[in-house]
Amino acid sequence: MITQEQLSGFMLMHAAFRTEFGRLAEACPRPRDAEHMDLLEEQLALVLEMLHAHHRHEDETLWRRLTGREPAAHEAMAELEAEHLALDPLMRAASDRTTPLPERAVVLARLHEVVNDHLDHEEQAAVPLMLRHLTPEDLESDKRTAMNDFGRRRVPVIFGWLASCANDEQVAATLADLPPVARLMFRLFWWPAYRRRFAALYGAGVPLANSVLAG
Ligand SMILES: [Fe+2]
Ligand SMILES: [Fe+2]
Repeated sequence: MITQEQLSGFMLMHAAFRTEFGRLAEACPRPRDAEHMDLLEEQLALVLEMLHAHHRHEDETLWRRLTGREPAAHEAMAELEAEHLALDPLMRAASDRTTPLPERAVVLARLHEVVNDHLDHEEQAAVPLMLRHLTPEDLESDKRTAMNDFGRRRVPVIFGWLASCANDEQVAATLADLPPVARLMFRLFWWPAYRRRFAALYGAGVPLANSVLAG
């Protein structure tokens, strides 16, 4: 058994997936110039890659772990896996650079809706099982998988992205969970750099999800 706070990393990934396709759908119809277009493409590719990795981990590890410990959950987990499969064509269309980025904005808006519906379902069906059956050791191993998926070089930008989508409690929990050196790096370098990236991507008009880092 684990607590809601121990699940904050998983919930933070969800918050980031819930947010970013909506931001991209707003920004992609009107890129300022070629440089802005490249940055939007890069951000979209990063978020899609992270979503694929998240689904892979759930399908290959997490759902099996949960059904192993509560066999009655099999049907609900199979539904979630089927929803991942159903998201694939939309994710492929979102990443298809043969369609100009502004024309892909409608796909991104649809992806935003479908991802949010899937996450609503998952949080209602899987999170109670996770709280009941996961152990701190499972979470440690999941964290290692996530860090491998991020890749060392991309940790600063991914932590910046997650922080830009986090609410106040999620920011506090994530910072408290980081080793002191990483916490310092985040405050001094990663977050200021991500704020510049965020401004370049979305301008000043898009609000952050928290007040802790907004100042
Ligand atoms: Fe998930
Ligand atoms: Fe999922």
